[in-house]
Formats: sequence, C-alpha cells, structure tokens
Amino acid sequence: MNLIFFGPPGAGKGTQAKKLVAERGIPQISTGDILRSHTREGTALGKKAKEYMEQGLLVPDQLVIDMVDDRLGKPDAQNGYILDGFPRTVGQAVALDQLLGKRDAEIDKVLVLRVPDEKIVARVVGRRMCKACGSVFHLEFQPPAVQGVCDACGGELYQRTDDTAEKVRVRLNEYAHNTEPVAAYYKQRGIVAEIDGVGDIDAIYQRLTSALDE
Ligand code: AP5
Repeated sequence: MNLIFFGPPGAGKGTQAKKLVAERGIPQISTGDILRSHTREGTALGKKAKEYMEQGLLVPDQLVIDMVDDRLGKPDAQNGYILDGFPRTVGQAVALDQLLGKRDAEIDKVLVLRVPDEKIVARVVGRRMCKACGSVFHLEFQPPAVQGVCDACGGELYQRTDDTAEKVRVRLNEYAHNTEPVAAYYKQRGIVAEIDGVGDIDAIYQRLTSALDE
C-alpha cells in the first residue's frame, strides 16, 4: 500500500507513521528526516536545504522531488511505503504522479490529520527528538522515562532548531498557503480520509487504521 500522511507541522504524522511501520512493516519516507540527515552530513543538498529549514520555509520543489525519486528506487520501497511530509505543494503532487507513473504505481490513500493551530504550537515547542535514532518525545504529552534520554536507544534528546513558537507560525503559514491545496488535489480522486488528530495517540491510531482498512 502506498500511503501519504498529510497534515500541518506537529499534527502527529511521524508519531502515527512509526506505529504503522511497526505494525505493517512498510517504510516511513519522511522528507523532513532525509533533509535533516543531509544537513547533519553537510552534503550539497543539506547546505542548500538548511537555509530554508531554519527559517521554517519550504525547501524548493526540485530539490525535494529529486530526493524522493532516489528514495522510491530503494529496495525497501518496492512493496509499499508511507510518504510523510511529501508532497507539500501542488507542484510536488504533480511530480509525484510522474514518478509513480514511470514505476506503474499509484497512491492508494491520503490520510489527513486535522489538529487546530493552537494545539500545534504546544506540540511542536515541547517536542524532543533522539539524536541517534530519531524517536520522538514530548516534554508533557509523551515524556521519556529519564529526562533528556531516549527510551528506545539511550541516545541524547534535542530540540529541533525550527521547533520554536516563532518558526512554527511561519511553518503554519507555509502549510496554509502551499500545502493545504494538495488535499483538494487528492480529494478529486476520492482517496482522502480525514482523521481527527486530537486526543490520545493510541485512539488516533485506531481511527487511522480503521480509515485505512475501510
Ligand atoms: P518535517 O520534518 O516534515 O516537519 P513538519 O511537517 O513540520 O512535521 P513535524 O515533523 O513537525 O510534525 P509531525 O506531524 O511529524 O508531528 P510529530 O509526530 O513529530 O519538515 C521540516 C522542514 O523540512 C520543513 O519546514 C521544510 O523546510 C522541510 N521540508 C520537509 N519536507 C519538505 C517538502 N516536501 N517540501 C519542501 N520542504 C520540505 O508530533 C509532534 C509532537 O507532538 C511530538 O512531540 C509528539 O510527541 C507530540 N504528539 C504527537 N501526537 C500527539 C497527540 N495525539 N497528543 C499530544 N501530543 C502529540
């Protein structure tokens, strides 16, 4: 199954994707995670992407599209995947159709997580991530057992540079103007399921898997 997890920054796309990966064994392809690994490694792509990401702005389409094209060619992506954070513009959605067309594949479902802006800010500002394995925590809503230490691997937790109240407002603005129209692009095909993204993480996962299995 080829899926898109869609929604504003901090809606819980990564949190829910990791649960589905664990249950169904298909990989999560997060353009944010791939871009962050490029910036950490200081690649040419990472250097270009960093200036946009640090401001909360979208990275230019072509950079991201080429990166996804490469990722979809990897062996683990041949039997389904969760696209997390891509496509994020209508231009990226059109390009994705072309990438899938050349592979004789298509998107089966787009799961849209709906969370109001005021809840988003609290989620994003309190988020902490593991430097080593990328596990996601929240100071209040999903705290690690030991402060600053990853439950999964013992790695050090850090706060993303774009996870500030100021940057999240820029990201929400980018989402409203550039990304929300992508939902309409897929609605025309009848493959969109809207999920209430507020509440307990496991309850949201139940809603999401019910929508998937419908
Ligand atoms: P990216 O990394 O994709 O960030 P994002 O879309 O802003 O999404 P987030 O990772 O912030 O949130 P999420 O929905 O995964 O939430 P999470 O599960 O972590 O992108 C970063 C940047 O990279 C972009 O700004 C852009 O510059 C660039 N980029 C990436 N893709 C691009 C593209 N396609 N085109 C152009 N540029 C691109 O949850 C958030 C927090 O809430 C966590 O702390 C979690 O513990 C907590 N939480 C989760 N669920 C709940 C719940 N139910 N209740 C309470 N807390 C919860």
